[in-house]
Amino acid sequence: MGAYTEGGVRRVPSRLGRSDASMGRAVRQGGLTVHSRAFEPDGRTEREQAFHDGLAESGFRGRRLLNMLSAGLYDKDILWEPVWRSIGDLHGKRVLDYGCGVGDFSGALWKRGARVHGIDICEGLVTQAETSFPQDARPAPVFQVMDAHATSFPDGFFDHVFGNGILHHLDLDAALSEIARVLRPGGSAFFQEPLAGHPWVRLVRRLTPRARSADERPLTWGDIDRIRRHFRSVEHTEIYLVTPMAAPLSLLGSGTARWTTRRLKTIDDGLFRLFPRSRRLAWLTMLALWK
Ligand SMILES: C[S@@+](CC[C@H](N)C(=O)[O-])C[C@H]1O[C@@H](n2cnc3c(N)ncnc32)[C@H](O)[C@@H]1O
Repeated sequence: MGAYTEGGVRRVPSRLGRSDASMGRAVRQGGLTVHSRAFEPDGRTEREQAFHDGLAESGFRGRRLLNMLSAGLYDKDILWEPVWRSIGDLHGKRVLDYGCGVGDFSGALWKRGARVHGIDICEGLVTQAETSFPQDARPAPVFQVMDAHATSFPDGFFDHVFGNGILHHLDLDAALSEIARVLRPGGSAFFQEPLAGHPWVRLVRRLTPRARSADERPLTWGDIDRIRRHFRSVEHTEIYLVTPMAAPLSLLGSGTARWTTRRLKTIDDGLFRLFPRSRRLAWLTMLALWK
């Protein structure tokens, strides 16, 4: 069975994306010509891979407290609700979960009917993503170990590309041109990414350097301008100003965390509307890009 066969095949043998990508060649897979191009990532991809392999092997030990504190803030239902409302049903759409990690966001896409492909550089996480789906899941999601800078998907393969916290791990220009390449004309991409400006979150980052990889870097407003060079249209919506202060309430349980986050987020949304410049101090941004 070829790597792009969908429906009827649940698993595709994982391949280390760098192998094809670094050789810069086109190969035939499942009846399709798959383009792979050279990308020289100055060691960034290997460092990301080693860091996330370590996290996966340790069961995320180094991030456990931070993950508990941010559980409510990273609630994907809250963050992605406006995107689901705007794009509607994903039935029949071929979508890419770019940097899929353990695949829980892939699950959200799959539940909306999408034909999901997930890629990540960390083999341990891709294995977890594969095993998180039932054997008889239809349409069958396809997970592969692949470098996001130089994937082996054909041009225009996807209707949508989604990423939850991935662009800030990558070489931005290389990643964006790859995303634009694999999207069909008129296709769109959606990302949730951290921003650099939130003073309290900046302090937490300084105090917990080992919880993050050496190369990840929250996006700046200059980065958002760079994104515009790659896409016909770019929108961004900033999220969370005062809400992160309530992070310790997450320790009281996920219900409390979710309840508090929803309420405080409403206050933040009001503050961003009243004082638009305060968006520069936001913690996260939701990006919507159209090819
Ligand atoms: C913050 S995690 C987000 C994971 C997932 N999207 C989620 O919502 O849980 C960032 C992910 O990017 C992956 N990653 C980093 N560099 C990559 C690269 N060059 N190609 C593919 N994945 C990469 C990491 O392995 C990690 O799983």
